[in-house]
Amino acid sequence: MFYTFTQILKQFKMKDKAVIITGAANGLGRVAGIAAAKAGYSVLLVDIDEIGLAESKQMIEENGGVAETYKANVADEAEVKGYVDFAVEKFGRIDGFFNNAGILGVPSLITDTDVEVLDRVLAVNVRGVFLGLKHVLKVMINQGSGSIVNTGSMGSTGGLPYTASYTASKHAVIGLTKTAALENAPTGVRVNAVLPGTIKTQMALKGTPGNTEEEKVAFASKTVPQGQMGTPEDIANAVVFLFSDGAKHITGIEVPVDGGITAQVYPSYA
Ligand SMILES: NC(=O)c1ccc[n+]([C@@H]2O[C@H](COP(=O)([O-])OP(=O)(O)OC[C@H]3O[C@@H](n4cnc5c(N)ncnc54)[C@H](O)[C@@H]3O)[C@@H](O)[C@H]2O)c1
Repeated sequence: MFYTFTQILKQFKMKDKAVIITGAANGLGRVAGIAAAKAGYSVLLVDIDEIGLAESKQMIEENGGVAETYKANVADEAEVKGYVDFAVEKFGRIDGFFNNAGILGVPSLITDTDVEVLDRVLAVNVRGVFLGLKHVLKVMINQGSGSIVNTGSMGSTGGLPYTASYTASKHAVIGLTKTAALENAPTGVRVNAVLPGTIKTQMALKGTPGNTEEEKVAFASKTVPQGQMGTPEDIANAVVFLFSDGAKHITGIEVPVDGGITAQVYPSYA
């Protein structure tokens, strides 16, 4: 049997380090996947959006990276176990996990919020993150190594009016992160969180006032001390650093990547 150069390269790369990224069909997950592949990791892209997953995979492969996809709802335990087993089958190990899939819900005052919205948001943002931790940790503990990065939000440390379900869910991500970090500090597995501010993705634009994208970006930029929205690459850079051995003594922390939003008491007009 003859192998093409690309097939040989793919087999070789499969032996390298591997990461799983959820919410990888769009936004922060997609760009983190591209960044992780550029850093040399084989990447398993997980999402409910199959079309978006295929696009993300293509973007990684066009840059010479190695990517596989797995369609899964992160709130479903059997499907979570499915993507973890698939990663182990394909790559033999899991070195990094970006536990990132999340939804905003429907912005409204608490008094106007249907309890179904709360349940839906908690199912993805808390149950999904918990299940990812539960099943990925088992693999990493066996290996004696690994780095997990959960996605929180600027809503992880303060209130955000009109998003009670989301804000509650993202506070919970911090509790899960710190607890998982402490439970696993002796095992060689690290667990941290990134807290994105306003990063230019579909989700952020959906939740921002304004009629056009330009108006929304202008509105969101005014809330950032640095004067502009962040990019998905800003988050990806932090995630790839936390995956790396350069972060080997960092566990149990949350890293705001927000242009100064969470540093301020009053909006900054400097
Ligand atoms: N964009 C921002 O400004 C911002 C700010 C703070 C936090 N975040 C967080 O970053 C993460 C990614 O957000 P984004 O901006 O890239 O959003 P996005 O909407 O662009 O992407 C989210 C992805 O998650 C997937 N997803 C949703 N529910 C899922 C489920 N049940 N199972 C599997 N996949 C599912 C979606 O299909 C989508 O591909 C989220 O956790 C979000 O809360 C984003």
